[in-house]
Amino acid sequence: MPTSDVERKRATLEALGVTAWVRRVPPSAAPVPPNLEAALPCVTAPASLPSADWDGLALEVAACTKCSLHAGRTQTVFGVGNHAAEWLVIGEAPGAEEDKRGEPFVGRAGQLLNSMLAAIGQPRERVYIANILKCRPPNNRDPRPEEVVCCEAYLQRQIALLKPKLILAVGRIAAQNLLKVETPIGKLRGQEHRFGRTGIPLIVTYHPAYLLRSPGEKRRAWQDLLLAERIYRQLP
Ligand code: URA
Repeated sequence: MPTSDVERKRATLEALGVTAWVRRVPPSAAPVPPNLEAALPCVTAPASLPSADWDGLALEVAACTKCSLHAGRTQTVFGVGNHAAEWLVIGEAPGAEEDKRGEPFVGRAGQLLNSMLAAIGQPRERVYIANILKCRPPNNRDPRPEEVVCCEAYLQRQIALLKPKLILAVGRIAAQNLLKVETPIGKLRGQEHRFGRTGIPLIVTYHPAYLLRSPGEKRRAWQDLLLAERIYRQLP
């Protein structure tokens, strides 16, 4: 009989025929210093396996307390859209409006994102939209590395469930975290990348909130969207 949560989840995944990968900790690993344990709770905690299906995963995210952001949220913002979507749009983190409504990109930046997507024939209803973080950082500050680490498995699981044909990373935070680089966004946009080991084509463009502040960059964002659309059309 499985005794721990991890074992129970592993048993469920095995019953579903899903291979469960667990990060191994070498038995000889030195104990984690207490200050690091506090700073990186998800790195030092025992590996946990996110749920295998959309509903289970959504429930798990809604109950998440892995990082300190849970204390300030109204609710988690899981993601929204078509589970059969071929495009996955990934932003940074919920803002005030998203935290209130529980849905990504519903504020002013979201309206611009909707128009951008509609303009290339991928309206909001057709795509799936998620963020790097599921909880709002206070005062809309940038996500901290430990928060990204805590949330990473949820987004990975969403990607595994959705199996998108194309990922559109909007903004520097999404792009750098998905590609695991620190390259400036100006150098990441305008070309095709691949997402990790999945090989899914990934296109980077500017965040719509940035475009609202810098409308002169909309021309470049439009070029990025056309590139994404062209790559998508050429996919097998
Ligand atoms: N900005 C983001 O990156 N994501 C949202 O959901 C809202 C604003």
